[in-house]
Amino acid sequence: MSAAIAKPTIGNLTGSAVANPNPSNFDREYLVPVIIGAVTPQTINMDLDTGSSDLWVFSNSTPGAQATGHVVYQPNTCNASTCAKLLPGETWSIQYSDMSSSSGIVYSDLVTIGGAAVSSQAVEAAQIVSSSFTTDTANSGLLGMAFSSLNTCRPQQQLTWFDNIKASLAAEVWTANLQKGAAGTYNFGYIDSTAYNSNITYTPVSTLRGFWEFTFSGYQLGSSSFVTTDMAAIADTGTTLLLLPSAVVESYWAQVPSAHLEPSLGAYIYPCSATPPNFTFGIGSYRGVVPGSYLAYGPVSSQWCYGGIQSQGSSPFSVFGDVLLKAQFVVFDVGNLRIGYAAKKT
Ligand SMILES: *[C@@H]1O[C@H](CO)[C@@H](O)[C@H](O)[C@H]1NC(C)=O
Ligand SMILES: *[C@@H]1O[C@H](CO)[C@@H](O)[C@H](O)[C@H]1NC(C)=O
Ligand SMILES: *[C@@H]1O[C@H](CO)[C@@H](O)[C@H](O)[C@H]1NC(C)=O
Ligand SMILES: *[C@@H]1O[C@H](CO)[C@@H](O)[C@H](O)[C@H]1NC(C)=O
Repeated sequence: MSAAIAKPTIGNLTGSAVANPNPSNFDREYLVPVIIGAVTPQTINMDLDTGSSDLWVFSNSTPGAQATGHVVYQPNTCNASTCAKLLPGETWSIQYSDMSSSSGIVYSDLVTIGGAAVSSQAVEAAQIVSSSFTTDTANSGLLGMAFSSLNTCRPQQQLTWFDNIKASLAAEVWTANLQKGAAGTYNFGYIDSTAYNSNITYTPVSTLRGFWEFTFSGYQLGSSSFVTTDMAAIADTGTTLLLLPSAVVESYWAQVPSAHLEPSLGAYIYPCSATPPNFTFGIGSYRGVVPGSYLAYGPVSSQWCYGGIQSQGSSPFSVFGDVLLKAQFVVFDVGNLRIGYAAKKT
């Protein structure tokens, strides 16, 4: 199998993949076309998730009723020289923070993303998926891009696609340039200097919990003054909204007349006729702005809209989800264990 893919001895590879919003009016998630298999390559749209480290797909092991409408990975397509390999005895099982879950068996196969190929990637084939995955037919798997320590494969923990490819890349780095209601880009192995405005501001990442976790230096709600305070956060492309401590969320929505915590939803809603205030975060002296229009998530009724900022609950960190990340150019610098933010090129 490896003979088919010449591995560069000196890293010079780069890749670039499209990140398509789904659905495009709400940007609930961003999907990337991932090509799996050497003999009969299949293109499977997957949610690139920096909050987890399993690469799993709907497969021919997923019961038909759970897989209806999905592209299904067929691992058994072989020719005389190459074949998907079942890893005997290897299993996986994952539960996400929204309580969705999936589990199954593991193959090794060729996985190409944005032109960059890993010949022996652990491809986790689902035998069971929870109902929210079944319903979301545009999305047929997850591509975990947190640190490999979170991978759930056992007995042998498996490496993420990025950990497998990083030594072949021109730089051990990848970037997210997500867009509101439009196709964006994930680049691998390089930083496109035309995608951002001035300097990238970096801050160290703590990998202790396996996430892209860092400290931000404070926040500004609308036109209130900047509050300087160190706060922990993770950058999570697999979370739709921006999750902050409940006191901060309460202060934020207090700026919008009639906005309130709706008990039946356990979430803040506000009159759709209003535009929520801007949210600004700090990294050192850098100020990243999330325009209020990005924090208008979507209607829950003819008058009320679901807020794009919600409580992080009992989580030990805030969650910079897509509503924030799509307002920024974000650098996931694996080689230097740091994350960078910059204003997008306007
Ligand atoms: C990339 O590296 C490989 C292996 O060293 C080499 O054969 C190839 O020419 C390089 N490609 C470029 C574009 O530099
Ligand atoms: C098997 O498929 C691979 C990938 O398409 C190809 O490179 C290889 O030549 C094929 N081998 C045979 C014996 O057909
Ligand atoms: C970018 O960084 C350079 C070097 O530190 C500095 O001279 C320059 O003023 C910075 N530009 C902006 C727009 O912050
Ligand atoms: C909100 O942010 C946008 C985009 O950065 C900016 O143009 C606008 O002036 C800001 N609005 C307020 C009230 O600060």
